[in-house]
Amino acid sequence: MSTYTEDKRKVTTHRLVEMKQRGEKISMLTAYDYSMASIIDQAGMDVILVGDSASNVMAGNITTLPMTLDQMIYHGKSVMRAVKRALVVVDMPFGSYQGNSKEALYSAIRIMKETDADCVKVEGGAEIKESIIRILSAGIPIMGHLGLTPQSINKFGTYAVRAKDDIEAEKLIQDALLLEELGCFAIVLEKIPASLAAKVSKKLNIPIIGIGAGAEVDGQVLVMHDMLGINKEFSPRFLRRYANLYEVIHGAVQSYIEDVKSQDFPNSKEWY
Ligand code: KIV
Repeated sequence: MSTYTEDKRKVTTHRLVEMKQRGEKISMLTAYDYSMASIIDQAGMDVILVGDSASNVMAGNITTLPMTLDQMIYHGKSVMRAVKRALVVVDMPFGSYQGNSKEALYSAIRIMKETDADCVKVEGGAEIKESIIRILSAGIPIMGHLGLTPQSINKFGTYAVRAKDDIEAEKLIQDALLLEELGCFAIVLEKIPASLAAKVSKKLNIPIIGIGAGAEVDGQVLVMHDMLGINKEFSPRFLRRYANLYEVIHGAVQSYIEDVKSQDFPNSKEWY
């Protein structure tokens, strides 16, 4: 069997469902720009999420709420110029799909037309049913997102683990079943008990991608800046850091400053 690095075929929503069926875990990571998307795609990532977490890690906002449709399209386009293999999902930003299904369709069509991405992601269940139905009716694949949904942070009031009590857990299960029934091709479950995520993954045929949702799901997603250690401050229990890029970049920049100040840079091999 070919491995993820040898298999150069484009990842599709159908292939993700097949991966779930044969028990192959799905890898997913965020990207917001051409250069990083290029590296991540060439490394063999299955899914690249142009997340509205760009609001936090790219723009320095506290929440994801300020992100606009134009900004998501800008990031989506930049990523799409780089990606050849991964499935690219673009987050629909806060205010672009809730409450008005016609506006939701208009927003999703803009994302698909202007970025050339493969699909969109929305946060929520029954509350956004009409928007989901209308977007899907235009042939636009949707990835759902339940559990800790950062666009609702002002309702939750905290980034703590969601669905710990029976009522919220039951609502989450019902919402997941609804998303599958409506036709979503996958669901992200964020920061919920591992046992609940495992239950949802077993009940549903579509892939469940977890972030802080344990191991018994069909794939994992992380925010690129967090797993590369570019953010020093953010250290939730679920995060594994694979590099310490803050130290690497900080050190390199300091060396460059020192070399400029001491006139070590440039030397005769570096000028014309
Ligand atoms: O915007 C984002 O990065 C996300 C992930 C946390 C799943 O939605």
